[in-house]
Amino acid sequence: MSAAELFTQASYLAASVLFILGLRSLTKPDSARRGMQQAAVGMLLAIVGTLTKEEVVDYKFIIAGLSVGTVIGYPLGMFVPMTAMPQRIAISHMFGALAATLVGIAEFYTLGDGAEVSRGTMAALGFEVMFGALTITGSFMAFGKLQEFLPGVPVTFRGQNAVSGVLFAGTVGLFAWLVYQPHTPWAFYLMCVLGLVIGVSLVLPIGGADMPVVISLLNSYAGLASSATGFAIGNEVLIIAGALDGASGFILSMVMSKAMNRSFSNILFGAFGKPPEKVAKAATGLTVKPISAEDAAIQLGYARSVIVVPGYGMAVAQAQHAVRELADLIEKNGGEVKYAIHPVAGRMPGHMNVLLAEANIPYEKLKEMEEINGEFQNTDVALVIGANDVVNPAARNDRSSPIYGMPILNVDQAKSIIVMKRSMNPGFAGIENELFYNDRTTMLFGDAKSSLERLVAEVKMNAAG
Ligand code: TAP
Repeated sequence: MSAAELFTQASYLAASVLFILGLRSLTKPDSARRGMQQAAVGMLLAIVGTLTKEEVVDYKFIIAGLSVGTVIGYPLGMFVPMTAMPQRIAISHMFGALAATLVGIAEFYTLGDGAEVSRGTMAALGFEVMFGALTITGSFMAFGKLQEFLPGVPVTFRGQNAVSGVLFAGTVGLFAWLVYQPHTPWAFYLMCVLGLVIGVSLVLPIGGADMPVVISLLNSYAGLASSATGFAIGNEVLIIAGALDGASGFILSMVMSKAMNRSFSNILFGAFGKPPEKVAKAATGLTVKPISAEDAAIQLGYARSVIVVPGYGMAVAQAQHAVRELADLIEKNGGEVKYAIHPVAGRMPGHMNVLLAEANIPYEKLKEMEEINGEFQNTDVALVIGANDVVNPAARNDRSSPIYGMPILNVDQAKSIIVMKRSMNPGFAGIENELFYNDRTTMLFGDAKSSLERLVAEVKMNAAG
């Protein structure tokens, strides 16, 4: 083995170890940042190890690629706001899948349009191109729905599942044929085109708000495609990184589905979030009790125990720093503040943890649902900030509710509940929330950040006077 080859293999090994350590560190909020750094160093080693390979004969295009990638990647990482992170991730997957698919096509073309390809290599190439192609368009559709230049509502038509089934069967049929007969260029390129069409038809009937689950599923497809690329071109680190990516994306999708009490088939084929089913009937004969910032501040000033329940609205309002300021004041007054984190609060996994960590809220105060649910009944005030579905008791009580069975935070058991949101509009699931009509609930209407700032000013004034 030459020195260059030894260096490449050593850097691949170190990169693989760092990827695994990175994933492990990502399981805890306090080590998540380190996990990202470990994975980034791993990726750097993998790139350097590849660039020093003896097979590289010309660096011109590589340098051009690195420059273009840096120019696109840096602003994507630095300037995209947290609320736009799901679509940012979707577009990254699109680029990843595009790379895997192009490598597959180039490999097939270079090897005489399949003439010099063994059946085993064809299986890897076919897999790569099939999954890669559907991930390109699927991710682009997810990006478009979240960025709102494509309709966010599920687009369905009669016989859609049958059409998708035929498309899928046709593509798998072509794949099988190619493995049997690799030198069939028409089948290869047709499979590629059908893969692109499947990506569109897969995501079209899914509502915009379900996109995070879809994105993480597509992430796992992109990982599988990369792993197959690794087999096709004989690159070990690509096999390992692709397999890790594929498996973690799949597990993440399962975790999200479980936390929403939804099955994969319900997400993929349930057209959840479609307007006719979505629009909630307004609760009749029930009234809500609005509260002013002055009165809410008095309650919070006297509270000995407060549980903050953040949700998607806190992310929209970017209210995390104001939350921290209010919590500091309550604690200064002798109260105790904890944060109840629902696994699917917000729009992406870990959404609330990331935002609250950004405001320097200590990790030990962030409590997972199972850990904190028993504490609500002894809590003076549950302060719900832009959360809705994750605190909706219908998930427990109403069998006809689309969220029935989803585990929720037991906010309705607190001694007093203050809900901060702008209106009576529903959240992601599009349904009425009986918590807002609870006898112990008061509503502080307005943008979460401005309301919190008013609360901070009031609490300060009360403390001074
Ligand atoms: P939602 O149920 O979506 O409710 C968010 C609430 O925030 C809305 O009712 C909205 O009411 C309010 N809001 C929006 N902007 C606001 C602002 N500027 N200031 C104050 N309030 C604002 O959020 P949630 O409770 O976090 O639940 C998350 C939902 O997303 C769940 O149904 C979950 O299944 C779904 N989901 C989550 C994920 C992940 S991984 N997190 C993935 C897919 C789906 P107003 O308009 O009246 O203000």
